[in-house]
Amino acid sequence: MRAAAPGSIRRRLLLQLLGGAAVLSVLLYLSVRGVSRSAVEQTQDSILGAATIAVAEQLRGTDEGVDIDIPYTAFSMLGAVGQDRVFYRIIVDGADLTGYADLPAPDDAPPGLNPLFYSRPYQQALVRLAAVNRPVIAGGHTAQVQVIVGQTRSAQEAIVADMAWRAAALGLGFFALAALLAVLTTRSVVRPLDRLAGALGRRGPQDLRPVTQPVPVELAPLTAALNGFIARLSGALKRTETFIAEAAHHIRTPLATLRARAEIALRQTQDEATRASLREVIRAVDDSARAAGQLLEHAAVVYRSDQRAEAPLDLAALLRDIGQSYAPAADMADVALAVSVPDSAVMLTADRLLVETALRNLVDNAIKYSGPDGRVEMGLGVAQGRATIRIADRGRGLSGASLADLTGRFRRGRNVEDVVGSGLGLTIVQEVARAQRGRFTLRERDGGGSCAELTLPLD
Ligand SMILES: Nc1ncnc2c1ncn2[C@@H]1O[C@H](COP(=O)(O)OP(=O)(O)OP(=O)(O)O)[C@@H](O)[C@H]1O
Ligand SMILES: [Mg+2]
Repeated sequence: MRAAAPGSIRRRLLLQLLGGAAVLSVLLYLSVRGVSRSAVEQTQDSILGAATIAVAEQLRGTDEGVDIDIPYTAFSMLGAVGQDRVFYRIIVDGADLTGYADLPAPDDAPPGLNPLFYSRPYQQALVRLAAVNRPVIAGGHTAQVQVIVGQTRSAQEAIVADMAWRAAALGLGFFALAALLAVLTTRSVVRPLDRLAGALGRRGPQDLRPVTQPVPVELAPLTAALNGFIARLSGALKRTETFIAEAAHHIRTPLATLRARAEIALRQTQDEATRASLREVIRAVDDSARAAGQLLEHAAVVYRSDQRAEAPLDLAALLRDIGQSYAPAADMADVALAVSVPDSAVMLTADRLLVETALRNLVDNAIKYSGPDGRVEMGLGVAQGRATIRIADRGRGLSGASLADLTGRFRRGRNVEDVVGSGLGLTIVQEVARAQRGRFTLRERDGGGSCAELTLPLD
């Protein structure tokens, strides 16, 4: 297996695109500058060549020799371009006729009236020169006349520098545009990944539904693998829950038999020591039976919280029902059970089994930790789109334990050792609150006892 490439896809993509854009911008700058420089040079050369030919055309042969009437208009053609200096030199058969005698001549002879161009340093400047050769008949023989015209290139340099600035601005503009496109491209490439990660991140810890988020084809294998993994995981979880439920069920039946036998034996024996140990057996059986029952209930709640059977539920009616079904248990424990709920229905969409299981556990706790002559109040209030079920008692209280201490699996308070219990009740309540997007709190009450509140969102 290959090791995962570290770093960020977004950063890498952005850097690569920006790097590419930067290289292209530099190439664009260099080529625009090069092309404009050679275009300006060619234009200047042809003007220089034309001026040189114009001078050569003014050569006349006379009896005494070669004569020339320098055509200054030809130089004004050159001068029009800028503040450049112009030089000329005319050589007849190797001897200077007129002009600057030290103006550098070309290394090779120019091919007739076709100007030969070359550059040389002259008078502290780089001078561009053009030379032509023209035979002139003078004094009975053909004289070879070479005309050289030179010009400094400051105007051309200025134009080239201006062009270079424009090329740089063009390159920068191109880079800015490419950078913007790179950012947009990167964002659009990474967005499906972000969306997928966001959708998975927002999920609750119990949410094992397959990923149905639409993704680009390149990500399809990832979501397929993810869904396969989720399916295997939830299958394994379900098997575990089913196994726990079955195991609890199988344990409860023989426990019931064991308890019945122990009770019969207790009634039949007079020996105090035997009776004491039989009572301990019964207590242990009660503990185990309670634990098995709660395990079964916990497994059912965990299983259901994934596939909730959501339906309209009247909380007021549910609380009245629970109050009624707990009336006998409250009577037996010598506890007064008061139910005060609104007369009208308080409707929400929820899984009835989940909510009922949670409320039963809260009422069960309130009664069993109340002690004789206790009073348990069940109330229901609605505020800000939420329904709050409140179950309060005047029992032994939490003796300082926090909700986090008590909601852990099999966690019980230190002050309840005399009461049968498994420590799973509040775990179940917490699970239900999470599945129904609600909130559960349990706190000590002023004046003794405790108060449990389950808040559920209304529709
Ligand atoms: N109304 C209450 N008054 C006092 N203590 C409470 C109350 N409700 C819960 N507790 C404390 O929280 C602990 C955890 O409660 P939980 O319902 O989870 O377990 P349990 O009641 O001990 O066992 P079971 O799983 O059988 O309900 C209890 O052991 C008890 O110490
Ligand atoms: Mg309990």
